Amino acid sequence: MTRPINIAVLGATGSIGRQTLDVIDRNPARFKLFGLTGGVGSSDRKAEHDIHGRAGEGDFDARVEAMVTDPRCDLVVVAIPGARALGPTMSALRAGKEVALATKEVLVMAGALVMKAAGERGIRPIDSEHSAIWQCLWGEELKNVRRLVITSSGGPFWAHPELDLDQVTVEQALNHPRWSMGRKVTVDSATLMNKGLELIEAHHLYGIPLDRISVCIHPQSVVHSLVEFVDGSFKAQLGRPDMRLPIAVALAYPDRLPDAVPPTSIHELSGLEFQELDEDRFPSVRLARDAAATGGGHPAVLNAANEEAVYAFLAGDLPFGAIIPTVERALEAFPGCGGSLPEILEADRWARAEVKAKFGSVRRA
Ligand SMILES: NC(=O)c1ccc[n+]([C@@H]2O[C@H](COP(=O)([O-])OP(=O)(O)OC[C@H]3O[C@@H](n4cnc5c(N)ncnc54)[C@H](OP(=O)(O)O)[C@@H]3O)[C@@H](O)[C@H]2O)c1
Repeated sequence: MTRPINIAVLGATGSIGRQTLDVIDRNPARFKLFGLTGGVGSSDRKAEHDIHGRAGEGDFDARVEAMVTDPRCDLVVVAIPGARALGPTMSALRAGKEVALATKEVLVMAGALVMKAAGERGIRPIDSEHSAIWQCLWGEELKNVRRLVITSSGGPFWAHPELDLDQVTVEQALNHPRWSMGRKVTVDSATLMNKGLELIEAHHLYGIPLDRISVCIHPQSVVHSLVEFVDGSFKAQLGRPDMRLPIAVALAYPDRLPDAVPPTSIHELSGLEFQELDEDRFPSVRLARDAAATGGGHPAVLNAANEEAVYAFLAGDLPFGAIIPTVERALEAFPGCGGSLPEILEADRWARAEVKAKFGSVRRA
């Protein structure tokens, strides 16, 4: 029998990280926890590498680098939110590791560079929408794909057009109707910037042009995304909203794990609705598509300005309704740059400074 796969989990104390540990724990013959990182949280897990602290502080980065490039490590799960996950993702890919990626911001910032570093191996997506598209594409040729359709629950405010978005509280924004997730991604789901980031993520993961990827509102969150083929067929992946399923798919690929989630009755999947996205009320997807089409440092500016604006909102320094206009203003002010890694990192720094200078926010991750 082959030995279990050695897995390193970046962000093991978070929502995705904890669910990944659960999948590993329930399959000891297949998976072994080789290493983990946590921020302020602590872990009682036994692993070869056990790293705690914040990216960019102390020797955290050097220890993470040593873990993800360790010859005994087979697969790295990336679940630290935001731009700070880019460095360890690139290190793992350059060392030839399999990468299961939850942190969409990494592909938004530097998708072309990340996919180049991944080469033929590609990236195993953990985002449920991208896992759905990945599964629909297994055994298919990309030339036969007409369109990708990313579904969105609409977040907490889609069904409430009467709400004044400037008056929305942090508590309301964190009250997602379908998914229980970390704070940053939950706010992104409320502004629908999450879908903008996912559109760019899908473009890089699957090499599909931006104008052939659309977003639709699907309040039930049962259809996790769809692929339309040139002959008019649609394929979709369905299931209850439970991130342990896409995590299990990413860890076990190309196999499937028996009972990764509790069985679902087909009747629980009925009553499915699909609505068109209102881009006037929620312009994030349009902003993201435009930034990705412009290319160079623009997607990194979109990502960094959004991160800073979200943390400013969570800190009480910015109204909810100002998050997306802040991103838009940063993109308008950005002079532009090329797409090399130093230029992307400089664009990221520029955007953070720009947003902080305007709002004087104090980042509290
Ligand atoms: N949650 C979901 O269902 C979901 C679905 C799809 C995609 N994603 C993506 O997955 C990523 C993680 O999301 P999440 O919901 O799991 O986030 P989360 O619950 O906030 O967890 C984040 C993890 O990263 C660690 N971390 C935070 N800041 C850090 C820093 N500066 N340096 C080092 N480690 C740090 C945290 O440590 P401490 O908590 O110990 O501080 C925690 O372990 C995000 O990019 C998100 O967009 C999440």
